[in-house]
Amino acid sequence: MPVNIAELNRQFAIPGIAEVITGSGGLAAVRITAPDAKGTLYLHGGHVTSWTPAGNDDVLWISGKSIWQPDKPIRGGVPICFPWFGARRNDPASPAHGFARLRTWELESIEQKAGAVTVTVFLTSDPDIQKTWPHDFLLRHKVTFGKELIMSLEFKNTAPQNRTRSVSEGLQDQSVKFEEAQHTYFAVGDVRQVKVKGLAGARYLDKTDNLKQKEQTGDLAITAETDRPFFDTAAPIILEDPSKSRKITLTKEGSRSTVVWNPWIAKARAMADFGDDEWPRMLCIETCNVGVDAVKVAPGQTQLMASYLRVDPL
Ligand code: BG6
Repeated sequence: MPVNIAELNRQFAIPGIAEVITGSGGLAAVRITAPDAKGTLYLHGGHVTSWTPAGNDDVLWISGKSIWQPDKPIRGGVPICFPWFGARRNDPASPAHGFARLRTWELESIEQKAGAVTVTVFLTSDPDIQKTWPHDFLLRHKVTFGKELIMSLEFKNTAPQNRTRSVSEGLQDQSVKFEEAQHTYFAVGDVRQVKVKGLAGARYLDKTDNLKQKEQTGDLAITAETDRPFFDTAAPIILEDPSKSRKITLTKEGSRSTVVWNPWIAKARAMADFGDDEWPRMLCIETCNVGVDAVKVAPGQTQLMASYLRVDPL
């Protein structure tokens, strides 16, 4: 159903602070201009595309080549990957990183508290989703634009609890297993100069080296194409960016995996929605539960995964 921007503004706008706008490609977005931060969240994908805390540049990166269309994911910001990460196992025709970043999410509320604003959007299963992913769910993304960016992704298994029986009884288990990511693209001055701290000693799969299992030694520097899902990484991660004289601290909740990605030269060239020369200006550090850290949620239960971002001078 097309989004009625005038009606959403009537219900949710906060004059001078939050309004629903027609964004790039005609897609609906919530634009925040609050004392503590400016920001934008597209209903397409429930996708944060910008967060500029007062006194800073935008902390998030968006490609100048992003394709702003309902059937394409936005390249940059914070795509929500759900309910699978990367290619779907045994089903390469399904969209990479799941369907959530390709759907129009619904606006639930916009609330102001002091200098910050919280926007809540949600996605529920519908007959179209059920054709390929037959589960009942409510996925809610609650995003606070303030001195910190707080992104809280809550999954609820909405299957009726009385339908849950053990598999041994011959009845279907209504638990849902899924992968999820807040696939944050950070804007950096020069990716070749950054350091990522907080992953030393962590086990990862090297997707640029036949998925070999490796262990991170010391801080992570980016010197080539980098594509690494790290496991058992619940601790905060710090992105030091000397060319922007700032450091970003990512604190996580309910997330056991972290993915670090930069496409470098050849892969950037191969992507239609990524400028050939844009790769030095971004680094993805993704709050996730993927692979062995996939999550299983019983009927009636919820699971929460959250990212807290802060910027400080370096
Ligand atoms: C990363 C994956 O998270 O996302 C990479 O680990 C992938 O393998 C990248 O290339 C971008 O994915 P997409 O589907 O947005 O092009």
